[in-house]
Amino acid sequence: MKKRLQKIIAEAGICSRRKAEELIKKGEVTINGKVAKLGDKADPDKDEIRVKGKLIKFPEKVYIMLNKPSGYVSTTKGQFGQKTVMELLKGLKIRVFPVGRLDVDTEGLLLLTNDGDFANRVMHPRYGIKKTYFVVLNGELSEKDVKKLKSGIIIDGKRVQIDSIEKKGKHKYRLVIHEGMKRIVKRLFEAIEFRVRYLYRDKIGNLSVGRLPKGKWRKLTERELMLIFSEDFSNSSKKS
Ligand code: URA
Repeated sequence: MKKRLQKIIAEAGICSRRKAEELIKKGEVTINGKVAKLGDKADPDKDEIRVKGKLIKFPEKVYIMLNKPSGYVSTTKGQFGQKTVMELLKGLKIRVFPVGRLDVDTEGLLLLTNDGDFANRVMHPRYGIKKTYFVVLNGELSEKDVKKLKSGIIIDGKRVQIDSIEKKGKHKYRLVIHEGMKRIVKRLFEAIEFRVRYLYRDKIGNLSVGRLPKGKWRKLTERELMLIFSEDFSNSSKKS
């Protein structure tokens, strides 16, 4: 994907975007052997970009799944002594950041990466990636409640609908939703006067956290990366 040259240089860790702009203005950056100008774009996967004659290299892109336990914030830096999910990535040498958030008490599938484009594709509402949650409530939903959740509830001025919901046991449900607003599952249930007692994210797209033990992480395979964006959602939950 083509991006502004100064962004590419900054992402490669050479210097800041501002400094990269200066280097471009001074004619010290080339794209495929041609001196670049400010405003030029390039594809870091295809074009040969040199700064002061030196070929720029990018850190390896990494994609990780973590089975997040309760008690960790999904940020790179915690406030007030909070534990962050970064503390769970023992042995990982490359810096990554979480793709979206799970609340401190929510558990389950959290993706982490150093690829900003990937993170954007997973999180941006335009792509409508579905997420599957297992939820324990403080009561049983009536048919009317389910209807409300499916037809949509106004949250922050926007109609939010769940895609499907399936009863899994006493007060237990499995739901699929593509809206990614902050605390969206809890806010939907609060809107119909329920409280979420436990929340676990099982899937993003068709990628499942599977049997990965709580608190553990591993790199995703190419196939798993594709599963995130796979359209076929037929083997997810049975719609109620
Ligand atoms: N919705 C919530 O309410 N909390 C989460 O952590 C994720 C989705």
